[in-house]
Amino acid sequence: MYVCLCRGVTDTQIREAVVDGASSLREVNSILGTASQCGKCGIATRDIINQTLAAL
Ligand code: FES
Repeated sequence: MYVCLCRGVTDTQIREAVVDGASSLREVNSILGTASQCGKCGIATRDIINQTLAAL
């Protein structure tokens, strides 16, 4: 599912970034470009990061 429409980033990509070591919204934004344009995906991205970290 697309989370960031501006950059075409999916929830799977966000989860993979966390599994690969990213642990904060800032890190994921830096890697994938989420929340770098309109910013509307920031909350959803953060939720996915937190869910993924909790499951590790
Ligand atoms: Fe992610 Fe716009 S939807 S920056």
